Formats: sequence, structure tokens, C-alpha cells
Amino acid sequence: MVLGLEISSYVCEAVKANLEHYFNQKRLLIFNNDIRQIGSLKSHVGCCCKVITCSLLLHDIKPNRRLEFLKGCYEMLAPTGSMVLADTMLTGSDFMDKILVNDWINCMRQQGIQDNEIEKMKVEDPYMFKAITEEELVGLFYKVGFKIVRTIWRNCNFAVIIASKGEKNAVCPHLANKS
Ligand SMILES: C[S@@+](CC[C@H](N)C(=O)[O-])C[C@H]1O[C@@H](n2cnc3c(N)ncnc32)[C@H](O)[C@@H]1O
Repeated sequence: MVLGLEISSYVCEAVKANLEHYFNQKRLLIFNNDIRQIGSLKSHVGCCCKVITCSLLLHDIKPNRRLEFLKGCYEMLAPTGSMVLADTMLTGSDFMDKILVNDWINCMRQQGIQDNEIEKMKVEDPYMFKAITEEELVGLFYKVGFKIVRTIWRNCNFAVIIASKGEKNAVCPHLANKS
């Protein structure tokens, strides 16, 4: 069973339309909600997820929310579970980071977003223009309790990180009474 969490109702509808077969078979569920509501998702699914994936989301949310979100994910994972996170990350080189941010701004311009709107976004939502560093993210994973954190793929400013709870002999609480 795959569960999704997505803030945009438009995206939820598009996912449903494209993956109707899986919805009908009840193999896919999508919750139209903000990641801040991850607590209610947790009360719905418990803490037995084998894998939680998160792609291209974290760079766009405020740093204090990142920690909160990863904590929620940690709590929803089974003791042997892992989280796979893919995102754009700053390279640590001022030169490259500037190029990446400029590319992003040019993409916005191509989509018809005016410069004055972009300047306003820089003030109101500065995280959109900063991305995250790999060190920062690895630190956040350890902070919430993940035991093993590894970058498994990296290409230019994009990295995939896997973080495991690493409790190898642990039994999922959900299954503990079944054996
Ligand atoms: C850049 S897209 C990435 C989509 C997909 N995960 C991928 O890798 O192709 C980011 C997605 O996160 C959703 N999103 C952004 N902020 C969110 C939030 N606070 N709560 C839930 N979803 C959010 C957006 O609506 C968008 O669909």
C-alpha cells in the first residue's frame, strides 16, 4: 500500500486520474493536506511504514518545519524502516550555487513571472532561493534519531540520501503480538 501526502488538490486530482487503477485496487491513497498535518496522517497509519520517500519538497519549506517534518516521518517508520530523500542541494561552491539560483530565476522568468514578483518572493520566501546543504540535511536526520545516514547518489546539485532507523533486530510494534 502506498500513501501520499500532497498540499495541492489539483495535483491530488491529477495523481488520481493517472493512477486510477491503483486507487480502485486500494493500493494507493492520497491525503490532500499540508505536511504540518503529518500528525493526523500518523494517527491514521500508525508507525509501521517500511519506507517514506520525499522528493523535491524539503528545500522549499522553512528550516524549523524541516525538522518537524523529519521527526514526524521518523515516528511513522517501523523500527527497521528507512527514509529516502531526493532534493536539490547546494554544492558548497559559491560559484556553482550562484549559477544554480540564477538558473532557477531564469526558469521563473520563462514561466512569465515578472522580476518585481521574484524580488517579492525573495523577501517573503527566501528559502526558495537557498536550497539546503547536504551537511545540514544529514545533521537533521541524525538530530531526529536516524542511526545510519548515507548519500547514495549525487549529480551536480541533486542528491539522494537514505536514512535508516537501523534497529536491525527490532520487531514492528504492529506485528509484535502476532508471532
Ligand atoms: C517540486 S514538486 C515535487 C513533486 C514530486 N515529489 C517529484 O519529485 O517530482 C513539490 C510538491 O510538493 C508539494 N508541496 C509543497 N509544499 C507542501 C506542503 N507544505 N505540504 C504538502 N505538500 C507540499 C507541491 O504541491 C508539489 O506537488
